[in-house]
Amino acid sequence: MATGTSYAGKVVIVTGGGRGIGAGIVRAFVDSGAQVVICDKDESGGRALEQELPGAVFIRCDVTQEKDVRTLISETIRQFGRLDCVVNNAGNHPPLQWPEETTTESFRQLLELNLLGVYTVTKLALPHLRKSKGNVINISSLVAVIGQSRSVPYVATKGAVTAMTKALALDESRFGVRVNCISPGNIWTPLWEEAAASTPDPRAAILEGTLAQPLGRMGQPAEVGAAAVFLASGATFCTGIDLFLTGGAELGYGRKASPGTPVDIPTTLS
Ligand SMILES: NC(=O)c1ccc[n+]([C@@H]2O[C@H](COP(=O)([O-])OP(=O)(O)OC[C@H]3O[C@@H](n4cnc5c(N)ncnc54)[C@H](O)[C@@H]3O)[C@@H](O)[C@H]2O)c1
Repeated sequence: MATGTSYAGKVVIVTGGGRGIGAGIVRAFVDSGAQVVICDKDESGGRALEQELPGAVFIRCDVTQEKDVRTLISETIRQFGRLDCVVNNAGNHPPLQWPEETTTESFRQLLELNLLGVYTVTKLALPHLRKSKGNVINISSLVAVIGQSRSVPYVATKGAVTAMTKALALDESRFGVRVNCISPGNIWTPLWEEAAASTPDPRAAILEGTLAQPLGRMGQPAEVGAAAVFLASGATFCTGIDLFLTGGAELGYGRKASPGTPVDIPTTLS
């Protein structure tokens, strides 16, 4: 049941809305009074949210399949008559890999999801967003700006999402369409939990991820949702921005040389 009205009467599509950050964004928009279309390639999470949340409907859609995306947009317009905001959240972070362990084929597949999925959904939504003077929110990542070890393909896809956000913001400004991105740091989601579970010491991985933030905790999907509602409803003079949602993870110095890096410690002066 909606508890707010900040985005009442508006229609929002959230890709990858079935779990994790996407589900947090779905809940936040429902709470703001919006009608939300949950897009996900998996049925289970999206269907459960649809049952739980009046104001949300589920449409199965794989964002890498243009045919699915065409149906997602046309079904949204058929059911609700308008589209005000698209949140491009569907994405994946593959397990950590050194550059020599990556392959062109797996990099290409990641580009299809993390970058071209964002492009296709946005492109097909734009005619409707121009009519409503709506907005696009892309879920990028802090690592697009600061890099991440053993993550060359992922970082490259997210860097492209941040860059595309700014280019599109310029082009769409003439239609009054705003385009922004959110760059989360560590957010506690099923993706994070699965990544930790695949390491030899999951508890140590989770502790490491927790201590990466000066705030001493990971973020919650609801906090990303609150930022998305703010960008859609309140941030009417913001376009092309990259909103860091990181608990301060990018601040300050830390131990950054990898094990194996030759270390050159200065000798003392006296
Ligand atoms: N969790 C973090 O710490 C973190 C940090 C920075 C950025 N991100 C980004 O946030 C987004 C969500 O991450 P998360 O941690 O919630 O992940 P998650 O794996 O928990 O959830 C992702 C959702 O996207 C859906 N999805 C995957 N491929 C899809 C496709 N082809 N079409 C439609 N839906 C698809 C999945 O079924 C799932 O429901 C991703 O783009 C991720 O890169 C996450």
